This record gives sequence, structure tokens and C-alpha cells, in this order.
Amino acid sequence: MRHLIDWQYYDDQTWESLIERALWHKTSTKRWHHSADGKSIGLLFFNSSLRTRTSMELAAQQLGAYASTLVVGQGTWGFAWGKPGEVMDGNEAEHIKEAVGVLSRYYDALGVRMFASLSDLEADRSERLMNVFKEAASVPVVNLESAFYHPCQALSDAAAMHTHFGGPPKGKKFTLAWCHHPRALPMAVPNSALLTAARLGMEVTLACPEAYKLDSSILSLAEQYATSNGGSFSHTSNLDEGVRDAHVIYAKAWSGPAIYHGKDEEQALRMSLKDWRITTPRMNGTDQGVFMHCLPVRRNVVVDDAVMDSHSAIHLLQAEFRLHAQKAILEHLWELD
Ligand code: CP
Repeated sequence: MRHLIDWQYYDDQTWESLIERALWHKTSTKRWHHSADGKSIGLLFFNSSLRTRTSMELAAQQLGAYASTLVVGQGTWGFAWGKPGEVMDGNEAEHIKEAVGVLSRYYDALGVRMFASLSDLEADRSERLMNVFKEAASVPVVNLESAFYHPCQALSDAAAMHTHFGGPPKGKKFTLAWCHHPRALPMAVPNSALLTAARLGMEVTLACPEAYKLDSSILSLAEQYATSNGGSFSHTSNLDEGVRDAHVIYAKAWSGPAIYHGKDEEQALRMSLKDWRITTPRMNGTDQGVFMHCLPVRRNVVVDDAVMDSHSAIHLLQAEFRLHAQKAILEHLWELD
């Protein structure tokens, strides 16, 4: 059974072939295919979405498949998914195991989005919900953003960089820049962006305050990917230094792992770091660098209007690639490749 929980479970050859396939879908003159005629996918959203929901629905439909979206708790039962032995005497009427078992008998694949709890690091790090899905499903499961990973975004970002640079971005300087945000946000996108750039053999810098360094498991994996793919990995707690001479500035706000040690302390720290924002002077310090963001983004908090509206911003290309990349992913999961 093919699942997509994260790219680290895929070998290099498959990862590279999926990037190629996403690039092919972008340039293909045919938008509609029939390769997945008669297939179906059920998309379960525990959290909001604009891009993932619409691009996944369209990706399936453009391959000839049927997609339906379930917003959990709005028209479905609330799902319990705690540890084994959980006594279901709360609001949730149905256990996720039964829900996934049932849906597996209707659909040919399931997609699921649920963000990190930001309160239980072990549950988030171990991807508890994704594992329940994997175990209970009898069809392929695709991660539409989980506690720690956003593989659909990662493939889109890799393909967007290939397109921008006219080939593999190996050797280019990639800076993942932590930015201030009024709300505590999860780490799935920065984790995936960091690992993607390292796996592509880029010269990767993580620019963030010390307290916002990503989970040690992600940092070790990024180091390992950088070493084995001819790139490098470093950290700086100075944003101006981090953006200098970069070819890519990937901006993102995140709250952890600091938040697991105390929500009030993390909030106070985050509010004191409003200068961590991508501005035109900072973009001027790059080597004709491009600005990337997964969206949604808060203008003039994370990034200034002038950067967002400039030619150096490729966030719409990234968003467009969600459609092409997810077609490649569905073809792979359904073994149509
Ligand atoms: N980038 C992304 O996943 O967007 P949505 O949250 O709108 O799906």
C-alpha cells in the first residue's frame, strides 16, 4: 500500500521522479486526463484550508477521479482519536478507527489535514493521528498537512524552485527565515521546507531566534540530507545575516518547540520580535533572491507589501504547483505511474 506521510519515507529516485512529473503536469498542454477514471478520494479536514482543499479536489477531477471533502465536526460526527483505552464519554460520537475503516470501503484514497496540537510534543512528533489513519485505512492515505509535515507543499516548493532556476536548485543559497506572527503557528511547513532544500543539495541556512530552532529530529535530518546531497546546513540568530547573498528567502512564522515549554512565555517572546519581517532592504541584501511563502501570509507582519507585490515574489507559482504536484502524487498513490 502506498501512503504519503512524508518524503523522508521515499527514496531519492521516487522523490525526483515525482518532481519531474509535477513539472510535466505544469507544461502539459492537456489539463484533463483520464488516467484515474472511476477512482475517488475522500478529503478530511480537521482545520481550515484554501489551497490544499481546492487544488486537491481539482487535481483528482482533472485526472478523471471524484473528490469529496468532509469538514470534520461540520456535518460529520466529531471523531475521537486519543490513546488506546480512551473512554469516549465526551463530545465525540465516533472513533477515528471506525470512520477511517468505513471511508476506506467507499473511497480509493483518503487525504487528511490536522495541524499540531502545540501542547503534546510527543504526539505531534510521532504523528499520532497520521499513524491511526495508516493503520485503520485499507486504501492509500495522503498527508494534507499534519503535525510535523506538509509533503504536498514540499513537492510544490521543490518544483517551483526547479522552474524558477531553470533546473535543479542544487548549490543555491536557501534561507528559511522565521518571522513574527500574532498567533502561535505549527511547524509542518518550515520542517518540510528545510528538509526539502537540504535534500535538493542547497546551501541551507535556518535564520531564527535561538528559542525557535526547529525540533532536534528535523535539524538532524536536515544535516544528514545536506551532507549526503552535497549541500550545507547552518543556523544564525541574525535575520540580516541570514538573508545576505541568499538566492531564496522562504519566510514562515512558527511557534514551536518553544511553545511546548509554556504558551505565555512563548507569546511574550514572539511579541517582542516584530522586527523579524521580510522587507525590501532585506531582499536587497540577497543575491537577486526570490521570496517564497506557502500562504496564507499576513502582509506587513510577516512580509511587506513591497516585497509581496514585487517580481521577486514567487508565492503564486508555489500555489499553482500544488495542483500539478498533487496530480503527480495521486498518480503515484494509485500506481498509475
Ligand atoms: N499552503 C497551504 O497549505 O494553504 P492552505 O492552508 O490554504 O491549504
